Amino acid sequence: MGFKLWLQILLLFPTLSLSYQFFDYADALTKSLLYFEAQRSGRLPYNQRVTWRHHSGLTDGLEQGVDLVGGYYDAGDNVKFGLPMAFTVTMLSWGVIQFRDEIAAAGELRHALEAIKWGTDYFIKAHTHPHVLWAQVGDGDTDHLCWQRPEDMTTSRRAYKVDEENPGSEVAAETAAAMAAASIVFRRTNPHYSHLLLDHAQQLFEFADKYRGKYDESIGGAKGYYTSVSGYKDELLWAAMWLYKATDNLHFFNYTIHNAISFGGITWPITEFSWDVKYAALQLLASMLPREGKTEQEKHILEEYTTKAEHYICANLNLNNGPANVQRTPGGLLYTRQWNNMQYVSNAVFLLTVYTDHLRSTNQNLSCPRNPSVGPDEILSLVQSQVAYILGSNPMGLSYLVGYGRDYPKRVHHRCASMESYRDTKTFVGCTQGYDHWYGRRSPNPNVVVGAVVGGPGSNDEFSDRRGNFMQTEACTYNTAPLVGVFARLNSMVNTTTLVSSV
Ligand SMILES: *[C@@H]1O[C@H](CO)[C@@H](O)[C@H](O)[C@H]1NC(C)=O
Ligand SMILES: *[C@@H]1O[C@H](CO)[C@@H](O)[C@H](O)[C@H]1NC(C)=O
Ligand SMILES: *[C@@H]1O[C@H](CO)[C@@H](O)[C@H](O)[C@H]1NC(C)=O
Repeated sequence: MGFKLWLQILLLFPTLSLSYQFFDYADALTKSLLYFEAQRSGRLPYNQRVTWRHHSGLTDGLEQGVDLVGGYYDAGDNVKFGLPMAFTVTMLSWGVIQFRDEIAAAGELRHALEAIKWGTDYFIKAHTHPHVLWAQVGDGDTDHLCWQRPEDMTTSRRAYKVDEENPGSEVAAETAAAMAAASIVFRRTNPHYSHLLLDHAQQLFEFADKYRGKYDESIGGAKGYYTSVSGYKDELLWAAMWLYKATDNLHFFNYTIHNAISFGGITWPITEFSWDVKYAALQLLASMLPREGKTEQEKHILEEYTTKAEHYICANLNLNNGPANVQRTPGGLLYTRQWNNMQYVSNAVFLLTVYTDHLRSTNQNLSCPRNPSVGPDEILSLVQSQVAYILGSNPMGLSYLVGYGRDYPKRVHHRCASMESYRDTKTFVGCTQGYDHWYGRRSPNPNVVVGAVVGGPGSNDEFSDRRGNFMQTEACTYNTAPLVGVFARLNSMVNTTTLVSSV
């Protein structure tokens, strides 16, 4: 972290204690990967490090005659939602593809690969036929009536699928993207597994494309929880892009070019990236593709993708004109919306970090409407300031990465963390018993969901650490996933910058 940024932070928050000036990114990285163990569903392995969790969901899929044991709970409840789970795995995989050496240097590569494989092993099970994908287990409505540890669940574990009659292009395409990206991750270390993932990815993409339909119309239980606002066209382009990266097959490149206009890939500028809306990340990937050997028309479409990607980056830097920028809180946090704002921040810092390295390796600057020559360092200092905010340099003095630093949210909206651990008491906690005995308690959660990134503060940097305040205190797997690579990247700079001597 540069000295200038420190001065800025100290001027903004003169009461900050000196201990906040050093961020232990390696510690943040280690913790972020522990979180994925806390979210595991299924039979936990002997080397499970988060020991307040135990086996759960061992009959998932049984009613439907399919083995759906495993995968991840998305957040503080016990539902396995396919779309955010797949997006989480795509982002973890992209992080490893981009920052593999940095993650390995910090000694965390094995854990990162395990976090990805816990997801992809589940996707392999859930993809039972070329045109069948089991895309959800449990449902939000019945799950939310109860406050139970996953180890005790008595709620419906009904499984839901998408198929030719009930298509679901968002979830099929996102799962294709996740498996294609993961196939790149495992290419060298586990070539057989990598091939298997790629086969599934190609079949799922073909299914998603040929049988088009909104997944939340086929899986009613996804609506209201993970309704797809942007539809499936962004996921189709995004999956094709990942398949192109995984295969080098021009058929997939063609797809992203020929559908760029009709699918909205280059149609409108966008300033957010999330489990739902993938255009900005797709545009960024397209903008980094080499132009050699491309036709004039292809080059033209790639230029359009690039313009939109730059709009996203400039918006985060506050360097677009007028309202086309991402808002910030008075304390400087990028602010998109009230409910789980932190997801947009972690996705943004990931894209900004990737883009910084792209500019650096191609020796370019970015041109924004309000600054024609933005260098990579300027973009990286925005990343550093956002990560500093997440880790505790903020008006509340709280780290929004749970378990990191001295002070962090203690009442995370998380069923399992809020109750006595199954390890300590096997006494069954019934559906409403959890609400009666645990939910409303003032005291901190008995278990710390280390590595979880909560929804985070509101537009005025305010944060209320109450279990019932789920917009701010619930954490989601896709909040942490993009930060894994970012922490590793920032950690790799610590040894090469003057951080320690400048403090
Ligand atoms: C790409 O699309 C063009 C136009 O539709 C077609 O002529 C060409 O054969 C396609 N190439 C591949 C590799 O699919
Ligand atoms: C990028 O911009 C910085 C100043 O912001 C300037 O010093 C540098 O020379 C520029 N680099 C390129 C490649 O244009
Ligand atoms: C940074 O330096 C320390 C001490 O020399 C070393 O243990 C650590 O592995 C280095 N970190 C990275 C990311 O290279």
